[in-house]
Amino acid sequence: MSVKIAPSILSSDFARLGQQVQEAIDGGADIIHVDIMDGHFVPNMTIGPLVVSAIRPIAAGAGVPLDVHLMIEQPERLIAEFAEAGANALTVHVETCPHLHRILQQIKELGVKAGVTLNPATPLVTLEEILIYVDQALIMSVNPGFGGQSYIPSSTRKIASLRRMLDERGLSQVDLQVDGGIEPQNAAKVVAAGANVLIVGSAIFNEKASVAENIAALRRAVD
Ligand code: DX5
Ligand code: ZN
Repeated sequence: MSVKIAPSILSSDFARLGQQVQEAIDGGADIIHVDIMDGHFVPNMTIGPLVVSAIRPIAAGAGVPLDVHLMIEQPERLIAEFAEAGANALTVHVETCPHLHRILQQIKELGVKAGVTLNPATPLVTLEEILIYVDQALIMSVNPGFGGQSYIPSSTRKIASLRRMLDERGLSQVDLQVDGGIEPQNAAKVVAAGANVLIVGSAIFNEKASVAENIAALRRAVD
């Protein structure tokens, strides 16, 4: 499975968001990752459906999917709005969904890919019954809420365990994403453990090099 790179716009310059999304696409982004935070489930607030719909034409024009990561309480209240705004995939946290099966069905009924994720402290066993219903599963390798944090080393083992769980169930086609603290120095390690989608914020949107150069460095690290 080839590795996909998903720039997370959380670390981009929001004053010129459209331009930054375009730079990521021109630089070879496979997916654009959009972080939605509500100030309740996580101690930070970001954007809502309005901004997703604003960047939609840029991504859609290039055929690049918008992957929307919902770090919000009661996500069932907003999934239709995010789908309408142009999300191609919606990922919910197991910690926010007592009726996880129901919301994943609802996401699929909206014609959107369904994803599930869990915080670093949440055990993988919470995914056991639900993996057969998802299109993508995301290992959070930092505590959600902020870009620029350091990769939590035990995430590598968690990625490997999830890859095993997927393979054992004949679900190798499910995308295994990793999000948080990914940079060229650790990218090969998480891919070797079984991740095939790298979600990367601060190692792509920074002052050190251009977005395209940073994406190229990640690509070199995993090829
Ligand atoms: C964190 C977000 C991430 C974040 C990753 O809560 O889910 O998508 O943007 O940023 P970096 O790559 O800087 O850790
Ligand atoms: Zn994210």
